[in-house]
Amino acid sequence: MILEIRTAGDPVLKKIAEDVTKIDKRLRNLLDNMAETMYATEGIGIAAPQVGQSIRAIVVDVDEKRYDMINPVITFREGSITDTEGCLSCPELFGEVERAEKICVQYTSRFNKKKELEAEGLLARCIQHEIDHLNGRLFIDIAKNITKGKPEK
Ligand code: CO
Repeated sequence: MILEIRTAGDPVLKKIAEDVTKIDKRLRNLLDNMAETMYATEGIGIAAPQVGQSIRAIVVDVDEKRYDMINPVITFREGSITDTEGCLSCPELFGEVERAEKICVQYTSRFNKKKELEAEGLLARCIQHEIDHLNGRLFIDIAKNITKGKPEK
């Protein structure tokens, strides 16, 4: 099911999301709907607050591998790199955001397994962007050179 995407100005996007305490069919259904919504809008990541659920869950897929991450925590970051970002919750806006180049993230899987992932490049960027959503932060809060429409490179 495709869900309604909340856009900048919606208070749910400014809240600190709650930890997920129960991993059940209902949560897995939400994750599937988040993924479907993300693919339908050609996004590469989506966070639960973007569909109005203030809980710590994200879905990312930058390279045809989908990760569902519950209660994700970045435990290591290295380097710094600036690149263009956009967001499903900020239609048509793009901006330059500085992120760690390489990260390690610990999370719980949709089947309640503890997982750890090392990521770099676009995947690392995407995970950092989505975790920011769980902390009430949008990329436009931290971006430089925000433009309407994709900037020419
Ligand atoms: Co976003």
